[in-house]
Amino acid sequence: MKRVLLVIGGGIAAYKCLDLIRRLQERRIAVRCVMTGAAQAFITPLAVGAISNERVATDLFDLEGEREIGHIRMARETDLIVVAPATADLLARMAHGHADDLATAVLLATRVPVLVAPAMNPAMWDHPATRRNVARLEADGIAFIGPNAGEMAEKGEAGVGRMAEVSELVARIENLLTPGAGGKGEIGFLSISAAKGARPLLAGRHVLVTSGPTHEPIDPVRYIANRSSGKQGHAIAAAAHRLGARVTLISGPVQIPVPEGVEVRHVETASEMLDAVEAALPADIAVLAAAVADWRAAEPQRGKIKKRPDAPPPALALAENPDILATIAKPGPQRPPLVIGFAAETQDVIGSAKAKRTAKAADWIVANDVSEARHVFGAERNTVHLLTADNVESWPELSKAEIAEALLRRAAQHLAARRETA
Ligand SMILES: Cc1cc2nc3c(=O)[nH]c(=O)nc-3n(C[C@H](O)[C@H](O)[C@H](O)COP(=O)(O)O)c2cc1C
Repeated sequence: MKRVLLVIGGGIAAYKCLDLIRRLQERRIAVRCVMTGAAQAFITPLAVGAISNERVATDLFDLEGEREIGHIRMARETDLIVVAPATADLLARMAHGHADDLATAVLLATRVPVLVAPAMNPAMWDHPATRRNVARLEADGIAFIGPNAGEMAEKGEAGVGRMAEVSELVARIENLLTPGAGGKGEIGFLSISAAKGARPLLAGRHVLVTSGPTHEPIDPVRYIANRSSGKQGHAIAAAAHRLGARVTLISGPVQIPVPEGVEVRHVETASEMLDAVEAALPADIAVLAAAVADWRAAEPQRGKIKKRPDAPPPALALAENPDILATIAKPGPQRPPLVIGFAAETQDVIGSAKAKRTAKAADWIVANDVSEARHVFGAERNTVHLLTADNVESWPELSKAEIAEALLRRAAQHLAARRETA
């Protein structure tokens, strides 16, 4: 029987641990719990003990507890430590090697893998201090799951900061405990150690991003275009770079600067974009966020089409453009392991996006409503739905940078989980 030591921190999401314990036990995983002092303000050791069927450890200086199973044994006699919810304060204490309560003493004394599920207000998660602590912990080899984007417990608050769902936690824990991903005593180290030595989440990965509109020439001065500003695609490229990836950004004509540290190819038309995407492969993740024109002028004119007072307006014949998403997602040796498409819809957003995901063989689709009333084009914020093979998640309104960060963290976790099961 595998063993998990669950460290419960003092956040609202602590109540979810009761369900987590049950779900793990159903999978024949034994759970012993440590609660921080703050955690006990949210759920009681009595409830946790009753569900886990084990004495709950709460105090570093508990004479009886230390005699029964000391904090060093507790830190060692487990296959995995899971910290959920990991508060901002707990992350800070872990990052600085504190050991002034039972939770941090156990975390400092352990040699087994540690999986952390942060949960906090989005402003706390975004704060430079938390960013520094997370980066340091990732560099120390701590594995992260979440946080996800969503509604917060506080009324009217939304953003990136929700603890990963219990089902996601269970799947990740099972992955880390699966023999072959490491084995007893070193479970998950094959995957977790990828983060050792200052390796951020997407280190060693190549992320390919398309962004902006395409311009399809009608003649040398006129073209078919759309309202895409490139803000979402560029934010995705910037976030991928921040998370340590090598990034190739294929950008249509936009008025915004190229994010720092990103290799960019400027293109105009859909066929130029397809050529540039194919030339940039292989990639681990392709995020196709560009608003590629579906049609181009069938016969672009070399000279400017003249307006003639006595002639009717010229008819514009259209030809279909290549479908970049469908081309890249087609099974084959060059297909990136994770292909994410975007769907800008004005009606039946989720239904249309579901159909698009299947028709184009994309892994995920990020769908958004771009009807006029939503003012999405050129805006700083957006409301999106993430469609995967078996799930539809509706995220709250977020900044495009927050959407980019949440999407890429999810993508990194998805790839890490694939590698753990491979
Ligand atoms: C109602 C309430 C909810 C809180 N929720 C969170 C939370 O979700 N995440 C967080 O990082 N801190 C939260 N805090 C603050 C922590 O409880 C506080 O920082 C505490 O010192 C964390 O202790 P611990 O890390 O030892 O569990 C909350 C505080 C209160 C009063």
